[in-house]
Amino acid sequence: MAELVAVARVEDVPVGTVKVVEAGGRRIALCNYDGKFYAIDDECTHDRGPLDQGELIGQEIECPRHGARFDVTTGRPTRLPAVRPVRSYKVSVADDGSISVEV
Ligand code: FES
Repeated sequence: MAELVAVARVEDVPVGTVKVVEAGGRRIALCNYDGKFYAIDDECTHDRGPLDQGELIGQEIECPRHGARFDVTTGRPTRLPAVRPVRSYKVSVADDGSISVEV
């Protein structure tokens, strides 16, 4: 059954940035794209590059190793060499500003 895990606060992840968090034993890249929060696995599906170290370009994150990109809103790859999606997670923001990820 899915578990909702509090991982950060809104002020920890400014617009256009990425913060790596841990939930359910996984490293997750929490991304703020245009004021909304999205969560994907922090590991590139091409060769395990750390996506949180990459650049957030619009709604895409670029892997720092070989330049693959993923849509952070869906986890789908948008540029080679990655062809498989990264897992994405539901995110919710509470009235008190805490961000939770469903794992
Ligand atoms: S490990 Fe990410 S593009 Fe190769």
